[in-house]
Amino acid sequence: MALESNGTKASEGENSLQSICYKRGSLRLLDQRRLPLETIYLDVRDATDGWNAIRDMVVRGAPAIAISAALSLAVEVFNLESFDGTCEEAASFLVMKLEYLVSSRPTAVNLSDATTKLKNIGLEAAATVAQAKYVFQAYIEAAETMLTDDVTANKAIGSHGAAFLQGRLKGPKTLSVLTHCNTGSLATAGYGTALGVIRTLHAEGVLEMAFCTETRPFNQGSRLTAFEFVHDNIPATLIADSAAAALMKAGRVNAVIVGADRIAANGDTANKIGTYSLALCAMYHGVPFYVAAPITSIDLSLSSGGQIVIEERSAKELLHSRGGLGEQVAASGISVWNPAFDVTPANLISAIITEKGVITKTKSDDFNIQGFI
Ligand code: MRU
Repeated sequence: MALESNGTKASEGENSLQSICYKRGSLRLLDQRRLPLETIYLDVRDATDGWNAIRDMVVRGAPAIAISAALSLAVEVFNLESFDGTCEEAASFLVMKLEYLVSSRPTAVNLSDATTKLKNIGLEAAATVAQAKYVFQAYIEAAETMLTDDVTANKAIGSHGAAFLQGRLKGPKTLSVLTHCNTGSLATAGYGTALGVIRTLHAEGVLEMAFCTETRPFNQGSRLTAFEFVHDNIPATLIADSAAAALMKAGRVNAVIVGADRIAANGDTANKIGTYSLALCAMYHGVPFYVAAPITSIDLSLSSGGQIVIEERSAKELLHSRGGLGEQVAASGISVWNPAFDVTPANLISAIITEKGVITKTKSDDFNIQGFI
């Protein structure tokens, strides 16, 4: 059965901001392509379903895709009717599936970080336990821990970020921020990263207005971030991507805060296409530009952002409305370049907010991320 054909409405206990609904042996992913109009969950039964859900943007956002990949395989091994192999064969099975899952989307390091850690869990378990089922059990427990750890990390990012931004407030008692793409509950296991900071600012009564860009071509901002703001009664205003410079020139934002898909060792940050333009505008207008991301979004193996692989997605996302799912909106025959991400150089970034605290610049205007970690 195709993943598309198994959609069902939210069941009791699931809310419309929960992208990942998991209990041992069962994984349901909110089909984010259908938001904000429909809340439909798709059953994910194995790694193949997980791969398709990630590739087709049922689930998206760096932390959410990593966790969904991990849990899709957890569900598969939990429901295996029989596995006659040795512990080493169980570990090889996990490694093979994880190598497949990591190929679903290339840019977010969270996915490759999670699969590397989980491969090691399988291999270490195989060396210590007596039966294959215990290798799978160790894997399932580790994948489940990623789900709970992510929410804890996001709440810490929210607190560090909100405290930091308030500390930097000069003059006004409240502040307005601009964000891009969707970095909220829908992009994570819950609460969100950059949007988590905005949630905390709102909870602490210091948020005047959150502006969100549409984030073309997939419209994560207008469909998902706007949906989260409305859901949580956060004061928010949607702008066209092309209105950001005018908004900053009008002095209507105190800070820009975005998420990350991969942060290189020098602080260069890959994030949703359009982030780089926002950072350039922010620098020109003297607006601080912050990245909020968990430590798992940092890739110390890359010295700079030039080494980050940028995913290019289908031309259909530009040629048709609704990120490729709706009617044709561009002239037939036009060629298309559709990079899903861009890299913002570290010199345009004021600080990086993580669950362990805020990484600020050294005297020489660099980030010492390695030292911080
Ligand atoms: O293509 P997407 O929707 O997966 O892109 C998402 C982003 O770029 C987010 O800003 C990033 O993954 C951080 S989500 C907490």
